[in-house]
Amino acid sequence: MKAALLGYGTIGKGVEILAKQVPGLEIKNVFVLPEFENLPYFTNNGHQVVTDPEIDIVFECLSGTEPANTLITEALKAGKHVITSNKAVVSPNLSRYVKLAKENGGSIQVEAAVAGGIPFLDALLKFSLLEDLNGYEGIFNGTSNYILDKMQKEGTDYAAALAEAQKKGYAEYDPANDVEGWDVFYKANISNALAYKSYDPEIRNPLGISKLNTSDIKKAKSEDRIIRHIAKSVQKDGKFDTIVAPVFLNKEDYLANIPSNYNAQLIYAPSFDKIGYFGQGAGRFATAQAMLANAIDTLNDTEREIVLDKNLEYDPTLIREDWIV
Ligand code: HSE
Repeated sequence: MKAALLGYGTIGKGVEILAKQVPGLEIKNVFVLPEFENLPYFTNNGHQVVTDPEIDIVFECLSGTEPANTLITEALKAGKHVITSNKAVVSPNLSRYVKLAKENGGSIQVEAAVAGGIPFLDALLKFSLLEDLNGYEGIFNGTSNYILDKMQKEGTDYAAALAEAQKKGYAEYDPANDVEGWDVFYKANISNALAYKSYDPEIRNPLGISKLNTSDIKKAKSEDRIIRHIAKSVQKDGKFDTIVAPVFLNKEDYLANIPSNYNAQLIYAPSFDKIGYFGQGAGRFATAQAMLANAIDTLNDTEREIVLDKNLEYDPTLIREDWIV
């Protein structure tokens, strides 16, 4: 199968490298924004790339909503198999993409948009299809986790910890998306859609870590607790609730013991209590391999279908808020 690559940043380059290891997959061309063009292999004509009859798979690794949304929409209308890592564009558009994919014989796969290399969405989707899911909770933002870890373990102040996270390349281009909670808001909306088979399950605005101060850190320490930035989601009796916020956790909790830039999740299922995931939630190869895993499913015709046939009611009383920092 021939593939097109949209975007040639950290993740796009990773996809290009790893794609060489997948038998039967060839990257035919790469769409880049005009300011980045410098090789004949590249093109600025996104429309031509995503409607090229030779192309079966479109890897979308642009950031932000445009031109990503236009190109994904065109690709799906042309019946392509779209694989994306772009949570900001998927979060508000997923149900429309699923519908377009179904109507035109293509598909949309979004594993890399949430938790990078951890196959978290795949697991959620499986439990959801089995109707065996109470909810999930997890650390979904490496930048926030890194900053909180530094502040609590080493006494680093907020600004210095953020500067370190940026230097290490964890933070988004605009780190406000990380520290104000929007990155996790997008990831939680996508997770909820898959978990609850629900279209457009948008949650209330997130709380980030930018407003935390030294007295919050001191309070956690004096109570022998740890502050982590999490998303927590539950469903019950046809309703769901999700929070994205910094919370106080007991020191021995699983999520309290996740090192610096990692992500981790717990999935709760009626049939077996809970199961945990842990790993790199960001970075070139972690994210690229999630996209290639989706591509292998397309090659083998083993894609997991995203089913969105419910409209769960949002009930903000299901999760108690007294543990939010
Ligand atoms: N900026 C994000 C993070 C990257 O810090 O986790 C992955 O979405």
